[in-house]
Amino acid sequence: MLITFEGIDGAGKSTQVTKLKRHLQELGREVLTLREPGGTAVAEHIRDLLLESKHDITPVGELLLFAASRAELVQKVILPALDNGSDVILDRFFDSTTAYQGYGRGLDLELLAGVNRIATFGLNPDITFYLDLTPEDALKRKFSEKSLPLAFESEELDRMENSGLEFYRRVRQGYHAISAEQSDRIVKLDALLTPDEIHRMIVGSLEKRDNRLTGS
Ligand code: TYD
Repeated sequence: MLITFEGIDGAGKSTQVTKLKRHLQELGREVLTLREPGGTAVAEHIRDLLLESKHDITPVGELLLFAASRAELVQKVILPALDNGSDVILDRFFDSTTAYQGYGRGLDLELLAGVNRIATFGLNPDITFYLDLTPEDALKRKFSEKSLPLAFESEELDRMENSGLEFYRRVRQGYHAISAEQSDRIVKLDALLTPDEIHRMIVGSLEKRDNRLTGS
C-alpha cells in the first residue's frame, strides 16, 4: 500500500508519518518511510539544488528538478519496495507539485499532470492524508510571534519557504481544490488538532478502507 502525506510546510506531516509507521509495524507490516524531494544519492543532490537559498531557479526548471528527483525515487526505491510487499509512506508526492508549482507558481495544470505521469510511471497513492493549515498558523509554529512580520522572507528559511505569504495562500487553495476533486483518495484533516487526534483519524480512515489494518 502506498500512503502519502501532504500539506504546507509546518503542517506536522513528519510527526504523523512517524506515528503511522509505528502503528503499521505493530500490526506486523513491513514499512518504508521516505520524503520528497530526495531518497536516492542523485535525488538528494537535486534536493540540495532545490532548497538551497542561494540558487535562483525558474518555475519550469524547478518543476523538472522535482520531477527528476521523483522519477529516481519511484523507479529505484518505491516500486521495488511495493513489489516486495512493503507499505510505503511518503512525505509528499505529486500533489505537492500540483499545489506548489501549479497553484503556487502558476504553471499550467495540464502540463503538470503530464510531467507528474512521467515522473511517477503512473503510480498513484492508495490514500493521501492532507493536513490543512493556514500559512499564518504555519508561521506561528515556526517563529516566535515577535519575528512574524519577517517570516517567509528570512535567512532561516529554505528557498521554497522564502516564496512569501501570498505564494503559500495559493498553495493552500491548490490543496483545497485537489482534495475536493479527488475526495475518494484524499482525506483532509485539520492540522490544528492534536497529533494524537490526527493519528486516530488517520488510523480510522485506513481501517475503513482495508480491514487487514484493524489489528484484530
Ligand atoms: P522539506 O524540507 O522536505 O519541507 P517539508 O518538511 O515542508 O515537507 O522541503 C520540501 C519543499 O519543497 C517544501 O517547501 C515543498 C516543496 N515541494 C514542491 O514545491 N514541489 C514538490 O513536488 C515537492 C515534492 C516539494
